[in-house]
Amino acid sequence: MVSSAQRGTWGSKAGFILAAAGSAVGLGNIWGFPTQVGQGGGAVFVLVYLLCVLLICLPIMVAELTIGRYAQLDPVGSFAAIRPGTRWWLVGVLGVLAGAGILSFYSVIAGWAIAYIWFTATGAVTGDAEAVSAFFGTFTANGPLNIGLMMVVLVTTAAVLFGGVQSGIERVTKLMMPALIALLLILAMRAITLPGASEGLAYYLRPDFSRLLDPTVINAALGQAFFSLSLGMGAMLTYGSYLSKRESIVTAACWVVALDTSMALLAGFIIFPSGFSIAGFDPSASGPGLIFAVLPRLFATLPGGHLFGAAFFILLTMAALSSTISLLEVPVAHFIDAHKWSRRRAVLLVTIAVFLIGIPSALANGAVGLFGSLPGLSMDFLSLMATIWNNFALPIGGFLTAVFVGWVWRTDNAIEEVMRNGAPFPGRALWSFLIRWVCPVAIATIIVYTIASM
Ligand code: TRP
Repeated sequence: MVSSAQRGTWGSKAGFILAAAGSAVGLGNIWGFPTQVGQGGGAVFVLVYLLCVLLICLPIMVAELTIGRYAQLDPVGSFAAIRPGTRWWLVGVLGVLAGAGILSFYSVIAGWAIAYIWFTATGAVTGDAEAVSAFFGTFTANGPLNIGLMMVVLVTTAAVLFGGVQSGIERVTKLMMPALIALLLILAMRAITLPGASEGLAYYLRPDFSRLLDPTVINAALGQAFFSLSLGMGAMLTYGSYLSKRESIVTAACWVVALDTSMALLAGFIIFPSGFSIAGFDPSASGPGLIFAVLPRLFATLPGGHLFGAAFFILLTMAALSSTISLLEVPVAHFIDAHKWSRRRAVLLVTIAVFLIGIPSALANGAVGLFGSLPGLSMDFLSLMATIWNNFALPIGGFLTAVFVGWVWRTDNAIEEVMRNGAPFPGRALWSFLIRWVCPVAIATIIVYTIASM
């Protein structure tokens, strides 16, 4: 086993929370959440999402951090170390694959955020709602540009990971997070005071209960919760393996969940009020271009709007990068720990593989017709990747993690690890119940129900 000094640990508790929150807060909150709310019918999606976060994801967050801190290894190694001679290490393999799969489409969207720094700063994206949407369509149809932007994202991520855990991840996030929160608050205040905002607020906050049991809504909300919290593929497990034995896992988990969820909700308070202030706005029609169609119109209502716009997309890019770092770190940590590769080699080879898998996603929004609408699936390649990994792989990874901690490793052993060195674990009986019963049963029911209704 590699000693913890070689693997690196966090500089401080605040540093860990910031880095884990940096992993969680990203495109999932500011791009993914509003997009999914728009497709899931508004407030009803928000309600189901919050239930998934509290009842399923928070307990699994504690479970992942605990496994990682106990085993001090990458996901594959951690499962193997706790139950040697069994096949549980395959859960870690699923995580390594999911990390690469998610990063492949995530880096395409992060590339869009980078391009919009330029487009908003230079005033290239202007005009009425129609012109702003058309601009997005023309931009995503430019294949070479989109591939180039994806490459910029991946190279930057790889460069940070060459530096190792502490110096890389902690430093980036410490500056970005407070600035992002402040800017989101300003934008939300502007959006809520626009004419027509109240219609957007009603859409966002007043649930249409007739869709409460719609399997696509429930499955999308579950997938979105896992994706937004970086759960179900061992990213938090890996971060937990760098967490010092003195820190409280429960406090850290609650902070990360609270920060991540408030940022997502805040993004909704920006997108829907400002969207509904635009005539003829249909939140379900814009797909992945929703925020890129709505935000430039919002910036236009602010004095010095292009500066706000550029600042927003700079911060969004930084938030995306602190997430791509954690996505890449899972496969990288695996090849370092399990196959004894050097960090340099692991970063290089995994990045190249992700780049190749990402190309069809970069070409899926207008550049190449085939990737834009896959035969027999009525879906583009990027959405297919997002569905496979977010809606299925992550919840299945979470399900297996819950079964592992609840029934195989057993909750008393996990609780002992959490409470090591006297850390408190309030609500541990409730946590055991959720991890043993609620998480596995709920996730299995949702997945089966979704597949059955397809
Ligand atoms: N949670 C991040 C976001 O919302 C994305 C992300 C980073 C992620 N690491 C992950 C998702 C690990 C799933 C698993 O943008």
